[in-house]
Amino acid sequence: MIHVIRTFFAIGNALCFIVNTLVNLLLPRQKPNYPAIQDALLLKSVGELVVELRQKKVTSHKLVQAYIKRIQEVNASLNAVVEDRFEQALKEAQHADGLIAKASNEQLVALFARYPLLGIPFTVKESAGLKGLSFVVGNIYRKDLKCDNDSEMVERLRSAGCIPLLVSANPEFCMSYETNTKMNGKCRNPYDPNRVSGGSSGGEGALNGAGATPFGLGSDIGGSIRLPAMFCGVFGHKATGGLLSIKGNFPFVDDPIFSQYLTTGPITRFAKDLPILLQVMAGEDIEKLKFHEPVPLKDIKIYYASSFSGCAALMHQPTDFDIKLAITRAVKCFQKGGLKTEEFNLDKFAHAREIGLRALSDLHGIPSVTNQGKPKISKLIGELVLSLFGLSVHNRDAVFMEWMRTERIYFSNEEAEGFRVEGEALKKELVKMLGENGVLFLPTFPTSAFAFNTATLNLVGVDLMLLFNILGLPATHVTMGLDHRGLPIGFQVVAAPYQDKLCLQIAAELEGAFGGWVPPLPHEIKS
Ligand SMILES: *[C@@H]1O[C@H](CO)[C@@H](O)[C@H](O)[C@H]1NC(C)=O
Ligand SMILES: *[C@@H]1O[C@H](CO)[C@@H](O)[C@H](O)[C@H]1NC(C)=O
Repeated sequence: MIHVIRTFFAIGNALCFIVNTLVNLLLPRQKPNYPAIQDALLLKSVGELVVELRQKKVTSHKLVQAYIKRIQEVNASLNAVVEDRFEQALKEAQHADGLIAKASNEQLVALFARYPLLGIPFTVKESAGLKGLSFVVGNIYRKDLKCDNDSEMVERLRSAGCIPLLVSANPEFCMSYETNTKMNGKCRNPYDPNRVSGGSSGGEGALNGAGATPFGLGSDIGGSIRLPAMFCGVFGHKATGGLLSIKGNFPFVDDPIFSQYLTTGPITRFAKDLPILLQVMAGEDIEKLKFHEPVPLKDIKIYYASSFSGCAALMHQPTDFDIKLAITRAVKCFQKGGLKTEEFNLDKFAHAREIGLRALSDLHGIPSVTNQGKPKISKLIGELVLSLFGLSVHNRDAVFMEWMRTERIYFSNEEAEGFRVEGEALKKELVKMLGENGVLFLPTFPTSAFAFNTATLNLVGVDLMLLFNILGLPATHVTMGLDHRGLPIGFQVVAAPYQDKLCLQIAAELEGAFGGWVPPLPHEIKS
């Protein structure tokens, strides 16, 4: 049976290559059609903003106002906002300012120890659960549904003093690499409105890329943080499996293994903010990451890979030249700094897609897009055909994935067991190879942002992201500038479980060496 799905993959892969090539030939780059950043306050990292708030050089109210203005000026073009709470946010900012203003120098220490991110605004993916705001997640059966409680992660960020501004766009049930739903329309890429912002944290990707949020809360089960980060030119961290709570995050799934695969996590323009955010988000579990025992940079060993070869190359998209170049430049940079490096054979991950699919199709209790306990195959195929012509109320990818997941027509039980064993062996090998000082550089996705309505074909690029959700390894997407079309590129940095600090350290080094986020338009700062 595996031959059926392999043939299917090979055909999908070839079609995807043809379509992406045609799109790149025929779809000219369109410049962003929103204004450049004019307010220098929007260019400061969370770390810098906390210092300025503490030193009373800026107020939270002014900061929230600046971001509201920016969100309004970019959202008209990007369509990244599902629902805002700007008025409440301004009130909460005034409250934070009150606490800061009346504190003596001594009291300020206690205040910022209690609320490490006091007065910092942020944005939340709709599915991540923000009380009182939309919780529709692109699905018609959830129309007008509001979230009745903050998720645990939102609650943690709020308890640290953060102020949520809005919930941002995501695909139907978060099941697509393109954020484009019947309920909300297209969420566009901040570098080119003809391209997707990625998915499923597409709204967060777009807002971060356009400099319209200090940081975003996203979630990732098959690249949903890393892909929008890549397409929108910013950083995103998928933490070690099970580290960050998904309580209150849609979908609610009872299967305990689900909380190992799906993770919440930060998306940000500034790599140096990632450790600050992770400290708040991990709560008491931060101890497991041993931030207090840093590994000296020179002791970190780098493994790297950029493309498949041989038969495996037929089943995967070729990695874009510019992405391969970015990996090579990063490796060279660390070699110059005296770090040990070694090439890794990507063909070891030839079955990543099968390993991932096997794991997902074994999950129990995933809610149905079509709102039926176990949808009939005829219903799914009917919706799939309708969706090809834009006539279904559902998103094509959401129906397609539900079909793949529920039918499992492509593996026999023996084959499925084989992929489970292969996944476990791969994890063991990676854990041993990476140890407490190793990181692996590899593509996040083979291409820069693709065109709208091509996400189903581009699902063939899922494997190198999904693999690390299934194996539970941490992975940070590092942005590495723009390709020859002016679209962001980068790659992921993976480490052994609970070695997230290595990913974050390397991301910050690369940000220092290569500049990190490149604004979509040159700033026009007014002093
Ligand atoms: C965001 O933009 C879209 C499209 O222009 C619009 O429908 C929506 O109301 C906007 N939301 C906010 C909060 O500005
Ligand atoms: C809402 O969330 C808080 C904090 O996570 C929790 O203590 C409370 O029990 C929740 N309430 C409901 C109704 O679920």
